[in-house]
Amino acid sequence: IRRFRDEGGSVIPVELPGKVGAWVVSSYETVDQVLANDGILYSKNPRNFTALHDGTVPPDWPIRQLIEGDHLLTKDGADHRRLRSLINRAFTPARVQSLAPRIQQMTDELLDELADEKADVVDLVWHFSEPLPVAVICELFGVPEGERYLIRACTNTLLSHTTTPEEAIKAGGELTGYLAAFIERKRGEPGDDLTTDLIRAQEDDGDRLSDNEMLWILWLVLIAGHETTVHLIANTIVALCTDPGQLAAARKDDSWAQVVEEALRSRNSVINVLFRYPIQDVNVAGTTIPAGDPIIVSIGGAGTDRARFGDAAGRFDIAREPEAHLGFGRGPHFCLGAPLARLESRIALSSLFARFPELRLAVREDEIVYSTSLITEGPVELPVAL
Ligand code: HEM
Repeated sequence: IRRFRDEGGSVIPVELPGKVGAWVVSSYETVDQVLANDGILYSKNPRNFTALHDGTVPPDWPIRQLIEGDHLLTKDGADHRRLRSLINRAFTPARVQSLAPRIQQMTDELLDELADEKADVVDLVWHFSEPLPVAVICELFGVPEGERYLIRACTNTLLSHTTTPEEAIKAGGELTGYLAAFIERKRGEPGDDLTTDLIRAQEDDGDRLSDNEMLWILWLVLIAGHETTVHLIANTIVALCTDPGQLAAARKDDSWAQVVEEALRSRNSVINVLFRYPIQDVNVAGTTIPAGDPIIVSIGGAGTDRARFGDAAGRFDIAREPEAHLGFGRGPHFCLGAPLARLESRIALSSLFARFPELRLAVREDEIVYSTSLITEGPVELPVAL
């Protein structure tokens, strides 16, 4: 993104580990173009294309589980539509909306615990922005409380770029092993949760999910359903604490929905989405990207593109006229969990700042350490004084 700003190009050649040539598209226009064009820009890693040699992902890529997994993000066309419509049957807007009181309750419980903290400085990632989304997505899918740590721990390992291939393989294996056993257990012990709904859908006549599809749906949704929201909440807390005027305005106007939209644009947790691969040479903003070359789609670049959002594009500003952002992607892979993420973030942020009106960062902004991953970004720790 920095190179895009400094050098002005919106399609940049880069080299990935394993000497794999790739491209970054990072302006609003090019991100929009690439995500919308699923006719020739595939999400599935195509076999036998140039840059990826024989089509296998280099063994030293930590995120290869995500790239090679058999889930929504690696499917295209009719394959993708079929799976997505089966999931949409369980994951309805009404179901998400009905969660609001329970999310509020979970939020309040965490805030009660925080209020009891005796320490002068507490880590809001540990105490708040991490446990809430983990609890919400796990409760929605019926993962018992004592088993949730495993979902978080495996996600951390799978997404971090400092993970070794061995660690990634081990974490991936642990997660799929756990989920296979969990689904089997749920078959015998149904509950009021989405895993049970998906199992029932498997038993219905007509088009149904295979066992493998079930496994990968849970795999993806449990990861994507918390990692993104953990970081969005924390990024937004930083943005508000470092700009008290914005925080005061959000409080005064109760404009938390706009706070969340502005964060999705300018402080998004998802900085890039998984690769797209052209199945034929494609022209993007005057540059020809050869068939098969992986394209990194920079959501962070699109959200802060000056050509689209003006000179102050990088500034978090809730007074900005609401404008379409690409924070949840675009086209057929548009985020399945967008309504849940919006609801959860709004409740979390409004409740946090209502409960602790004096909340402030206990470190300078430039001292905050950010997690490093190709896909998501957010503080590892967030020391605050309540
Ligand atoms: C897809 C962002 C929360 C589940 C996506 C995509 C983006 C995104 C940019 C498009 C990926 C692509 O085109 O390759 C975010 C952000 C979130 C968030 C910024 C929170 C702040 C959630 C939640 C869930 C979820 C809470 C849980 C249900 C998914 C799934 C997909 C997806 C399953 C794949 C959809 C498909 O391929 O059809 N998300 N997401 N996300 N998201 Fe989210």
